[in-house]
Amino acid sequence: MQGSPVLKSKLKGGISIFSVVGQLAAEYKAINLWQGAPSFTPNSHLVESAFQAIRDGFNQYSPMPGVLALRQVLADKTARLYGAQYDPNTEITVTAGGLEAAYAAITALVHAGDEVIYFEPAFECYEPTVRLQGATPVPIKIPLDTLKIDWDEVAAAITPRTRMIVINSPHNPTGAVLDQHDIERLTSLTRGTDIVILSDEVYEHMVYDGKAHCSMAQYPELAARSVVIFSLGKTFHVTGWRVGYCVAPAEIMKEIRMVHQYLVYSAPAPFQIALAAVLEDPANYVGLSDFYQKKRDLLIDSMKESSLKVRPCASGFFLLADFTAVSNSTDRDFVLELLRRKRVGTIPLSHFYSDDAPTGKIRLSFCQHDDVLREGGRLLSSPDL
Ligand SMILES: Cc1ncc(COP(=O)(O)O)c(C=O)c1O
Repeated sequence: MQGSPVLKSKLKGGISIFSVVGQLAAEYKAINLWQGAPSFTPNSHLVESAFQAIRDGFNQYSPMPGVLALRQVLADKTARLYGAQYDPNTEITVTAGGLEAAYAAITALVHAGDEVIYFEPAFECYEPTVRLQGATPVPIKIPLDTLKIDWDEVAAAITPRTRMIVINSPHNPTGAVLDQHDIERLTSLTRGTDIVILSDEVYEHMVYDGKAHCSMAQYPELAARSVVIFSLGKTFHVTGWRVGYCVAPAEIMKEIRMVHQYLVYSAPAPFQIALAAVLEDPANYVGLSDFYQKKRDLLIDSMKESSLKVRPCASGFFLLADFTAVSNSTDRDFVLELLRRKRVGTIPLSHFYSDDAPTGKIRLSFCQHDDVLREGGRLLSSPDL
């Protein structure tokens, strides 16, 4: 059997670096600084509500766009945080994670011959999903020293075939966040075009050092052409429940729902009901930035003697560390060496680029318990790194 050449090329022989690291990490009982899955116990009210929903018999398909009570509470949340009114009936869809929302949106809106601009390093799903539609991904590199998008380069990359621009802020893996200048340039570059913006905002509640998250939903001109993606898995430490959502104007959402209904039909029903219960109280998620900022600072502090050069991030779960002072290896080999020699799992930054060229950098995740972060930091500070 032939399989999909698109996915094969992305997976470099069929196996993702996440699977390779995951397997070796289990073998070596390694410290987990590689995974973007929070290792914390979820809110007890949330867990109890999920059990209760199962006991109450909510074990069949939910309505295709999601449990209405959840969509209503999400509409309130979006209005309160971003001043945007989305109609729960026609403009909000609950999905099987942010990932499904991205897949459904790209599949619904991008077609053969279209071009999609996105920024590298990039979360891994955008490029293969665009290719699977027979469309052309157009990656633009974010300079790692400034983390600022070069909007003149974006302007030059826009053609009559540009159908979508994918924005990811807060950004995985750099932690960069968009600012007002970015919003202004994006607004003027897309004005008068048919370009749709796919705005992946799954780390919306993890922004540090007093910075505010700029959501595409809060700028009416951009919101009118945007699909905005959020993840309840990331926000409530329940990534395995597979619940996220997207918001978009009704005519765009209609297209997305056509794909969503054949992809999964609906997200898990009891978890939607439980999440609706905890979302009613914003206190259940507004403290996340403080929580994760402390984690970020702890990992940085634990690595202050390390020869790895860590760059503090402004948001999200991840830090980038430059290892060129200690090794000439490719980032992929360095990750494998760290696993074997230090029993610490990390991810090579090259994984987030379509050209896969070595970067001299690795990604460290800090969505872990403090003792894991301290031990990971200690191991990464060994003099014989
Ligand atoms: C940037 C980005 N978007 C989307 C997702 C997927 O989110 P979910 O777990 O809700 O599917 C992730 C997960 O790591 C991510 O980092």
